[in-house]
This record gives sequence, structure tokens and C-alpha cells, in this order.
Amino acid sequence: MCGIIGIASTKSVSSNIVESLKKLEYRGYDSSGIATIDDNGINEKKCTGRVENLEKILFKTPSNGKVGVGHVRWATHGAPSKVNAHPHSSEQVSVVHNGIIENSSLLKEDLEKKGYKFKSQTDTEVITFLITEFLKDFDLVKAINKTLSKLKGSFALGIIFKKYADTVIGARKGSPLAVGYGHGENYLGSDSYALKSMTNKITYLDDGDICLLNNNKVEFYNSNNKKINKEVLTLSNDENTEDKGDYKDFMSKEINEQSITVKTCIKEYIDETRKDINLYNFPIKPNEIKKIVLVGCGTAYHSCIAAKYWFEELTTIPIETDVASEFRYRTIQFDKKNLYVFVSQSGETADTFAALDLCKKNNVKTCSVINVVESSIARLTDFVLPIHAGPEIGVASTKAFIGQMLVLYILAIKISDSRSEISKSDYTKKIIELKKLPDLISKTLKCEDKIQVIAKDFVNSKGVIFLGRGSSFPIALEGALKLKELSYVHAEGYPAGEMKHGPLALIEEGLPVIVLAPSDRYFVKTISNMQEVIARGAKVLLVTNTNNDVNSENIRFILTVPKSDPFFSPFLLTIPLQLLAYHVAKLKGCDIDKPRNLAKSVTVE
Ligand code: AGP
Repeated sequence: MCGIIGIASTKSVSSNIVESLKKLEYRGYDSSGIATIDDNGINEKKCTGRVENLEKILFKTPSNGKVGVGHVRWATHGAPSKVNAHPHSSEQVSVVHNGIIENSSLLKEDLEKKGYKFKSQTDTEVITFLITEFLKDFDLVKAINKTLSKLKGSFALGIIFKKYADTVIGARKGSPLAVGYGHGENYLGSDSYALKSMTNKITYLDDGDICLLNNNKVEFYNSNNKKINKEVLTLSNDENTEDKGDYKDFMSKEINEQSITVKTCIKEYIDETRKDINLYNFPIKPNEIKKIVLVGCGTAYHSCIAAKYWFEELTTIPIETDVASEFRYRTIQFDKKNLYVFVSQSGETADTFAALDLCKKNNVKTCSVINVVESSIARLTDFVLPIHAGPEIGVASTKAFIGQMLVLYILAIKISDSRSEISKSDYTKKIIELKKLPDLISKTLKCEDKIQVIAKDFVNSKGVIFLGRGSSFPIALEGALKLKELSYVHAEGYPAGEMKHGPLALIEEGLPVIVLAPSDRYFVKTISNMQEVIARGAKVLLVTNTNNDVNSENIRFILTVPKSDPFFSPFLLTIPLQLLAYHVAKLKGCDIDKPRNLAKSVTVE
């Protein structure tokens, strides 16, 4: 989490730093700050809250300087406050930091003995003082490497100096960092997204790399202070996705564009003429796959659970799913015949990256289902399956979830065909059927008016329970996650059959329960579970795709999504739940695109 920007230029940098920080707010938004080098040395300004607060400060008291760093924070060590906001500066050095320094307390004790006075509760200030100390005896690159060798944990750093007034230094271990090349200026950024409006030429730092930039050159060094060469990449020019268009927020735009993103993704994977799925150079022969392990966090993990049901229906391959933060610390028997699949929108999630890294160290085959194809996870996996959803700005993941499920579903069909576990005619039928999905999503989106009415009825609830069976179960989890992260209402998703094993005790008069019951082989069972909660006073919203066989008596709301191929139910059931979370949050006046305490890209453990 946290966003870093650095610019070395021939002109004043503060306004460009602020503009880039606005793009980085998805990484953290509890405080922000900037430091530039002017004639008097380091000029630091910081504040709590959004970047617009920093902008107001700079409007009243502008910062000059042709070199500077900026930061948006997602608090780890120390509460969100002005004093804990980055940059953290000494007389000589100013530092912005993303990540966690695990041995900061020990380092702090040593530095205090040397007379350094700490102002903040952060782990970052130790970096500022270590660099200040080493600069007394070493040249710039050596002083940075000496400092890095003392740090345990993960970090990306941006650093400026009073003495080296034209220079910005970047360093990376565990947290992503990129360099961008401009005309008369060069940039440092937490990711390419922050740099994209300024340049499409970038280089990613690897762990242990240091970069040194000024307005006309960029140099890279390794941990032995040796100069190294790095590849310059040209980024694709995506459509202008920073524009909300007529939408009030990115989330509603992203929900409403799901039929388009699904269409784009299908076009990328389906060969129309051959009625086949394009998947070349897959890292493992489908016939030889012994087991598939699907790993992700949050919403991405929910797409893994949905995929488990599809793979199990379509293939004979055993499937395992896990959240990355658990997977990375398990004692796992890795097997070269297994395929390890990592699902991530951002491609920068620290736990998912660490889980992937563990697989790489065990020499097993890996593949990623990713939105940001230039990301660290995409670059480390053997094979990348992009979801083609375009940048997702809203912190609550919507179109990426649908995209992740879609790509995993396409992968399941393809693997099933390659293993001859599905007949050719069924395979072709599935491909033809897929083309109907964008239209089905458009039709489902029309439920928004009804959802607004339901949201009014649910808005004052203290808690909500979501129930589903089979592939509707992960959608229950996802619906609950969306509601809690957006509207701060306590919500839980359960397999409907689990209710009797404890959660049924929560049901009381008027408690909202959302029951997902498409017409599938679980339908009758789920409806019985629904009756059990109704009998205990629950206020039920039934989301289904059939009007038959349901006694509507005592069901508060019934929402019918279009009838479809049973494999599409998870996609269509998701949409009303996204809209419900959105409208409940709106009614409560919550910040839709930036819910409290969260960040879009979770780059700390
Ligand atoms: C979803 O709405 C979340 N904000 C969150 O759970 C997210 O899906 C998770 O942090 C994983 O992110 P990733 O897809 O970028 O790896």
C-alpha cells in the first residue's frame, strides 16, 4: 500500500507530483505529503486526508523546486496523522516509503543512542536517519546500499537530498517501483499507472536494485554498488479510463461497463472461425496436470472458489483453493505435475506475490489471471491470462471479479477439451453460449431500479447474511464482502447448508438474509434453507432465475435474473449484489470509490 512518486526535472515539480498522487490514491488515502529541494534545502509539506487537502496547502504556500518526492499513505506503523505522514525528513535527506521495516524498533534504539530525535511513530524515520548517518562517510550509492543492508522487511523508497539537489533515488525490496523516462525530466513511481500520463517508457526495478535519476539521465545500481543495465519497456496506450464519464463514481461506471469488458475478454480468447479457445504455449500439458491449486486474496479468492466448482464439473482434475496469506505459510508438498494459478486484479498484492514466489522457489508451474499485465505477479508467472477489464479504480472490485471468473471459466473449458473430458460438440456449444454472456449481463444490470428500493429497506440493518450453495456460495461470500467494505454493515456469506450448524442462531425478526437460488441441482435444498430462516423471522431477498416452484409468501423481495446456461449463474447473481452494496453505501453517505481503512492495491502483508 502507499503510493510513491518522484520527479527530477528542469522545471518546478510540485504540481505534477500532486497530479500523480491523485492517481496513486487508490493505494492509500489517509494522509499525503510532498518534499522538494529549493534554495533553502528540503521543503516538506504534509497533511491528513485526501490529496486535495495537500493541493489546498500548496495553493496557499507553493513549493518550488525541480526535484521532489510525494506520497499517499495507508497507515501501518502509527496512526494516520500529519506527523506520521510521509515524507520523513532530516536536514539532509527526505524519504517516502511503501512497505514495512520489521526491525525498525532495534534500529531506532541504535539511532537514538547516536543522538537522532524521532518525531513520528512510523518505521520510516529510521531510513531517513540511517541514510543521513551513512552519508557522513560514504558516497551516495554506497550510503543507500549500506542503509538497505540494515533493513529487514519489504520496501520501495523514494529519496531526495539537500547535498545532491538534482537527484532522486529509488530502491526496491519486495514492494514494486518503476522508473519513467520523459523529456527533460525523469520519474519514479509505485506503478506504471501513476506514470502513464507522463510517459509510456518505463523500467521496473527488481529486488535489490537502486535507481538514480536526474533530469537528463537514469542510472541503475545493484546491491554491490555496480552499475547495471535494465530493460526499457513501452506501455500500451489503453483507452482513457480515468474518466468517470456521466457516472458519479468509478464503481458505478465499472459495474455498468461489465457487459463491455466481458465482450472484450471473450473476443481476446475465442477464435470465432475455429470455434476454439486461443491458448498457446501453456506451461503444462493439460493431460499431465495432476492437481490445480488456485490462490488469491479477497474478491480474487472468491473467483478461485467459483472456478473450483467449474473445474470439478468439467474435468477430473482435483482442485484446491486457498487464500494467499495462508498458502504462503503452509507446509506444502509441491508437485511438478500440479498447476498453481494466482488470481489478482492489481498483480501487486503482497501475499499473492509471496505465495507465487514460494512456488517459483519450488520450481513448479505457475500461471496468473491478471488485470494489470505489467504487474509484478504477471512478470513472475510462467504464463499470464489477462482479464482485459481495463483499469479498475474503485477500491471495491467489480468488473475484475467478473473478468477473473470469466477467464477461469474459459480455462476450465479449454483444459477439459484438451483432456478430452468434454465432447467436441459440447465444447463448441459452450463457446457459442459464451457469446451470449455480455447481453445477459446487460439485461441483469436493468435490475438497478428494483435494487434501489430494496436498498432503502435494508439500509438500517445491523447485519446481513448471504446464502448460496454450489457455485452460488462464493457469490454469497462476494456479496457479503462488497456490502461490508462499501457500507460498513456487518455481512457474512455462508453455504446455505451450514446455517443449522451455528449461524441460524443469528436470525431474528427483520434480519435481512439474501438467498441465492438459481435453478440448478441445489435449488430445492436452498429454498428449504430459505424457509428455515423465514420461519425464524428473517426478511428475505431471494435472487433467482426461475419463477417456478417458489412459494412467494413471506418472501420480502424476489429478484429474477435472466435464465441462462447454469455455468453463468455466478456472473448474473453477482450483479444485483454489487448494486445492492453500492446503493446501501450511497444511502449511508459512504465514500464509494475509497471506503474507509482500505486501499486498492494491498502491497503490504
Ligand atoms: C475487493 O473488493 C477488495 N477490495 C479486495 O478484496 C481485493 O480483491 C484483494 O485485496 C485482492 O486484490 P488483487 O486482486 O489486486 O490481488
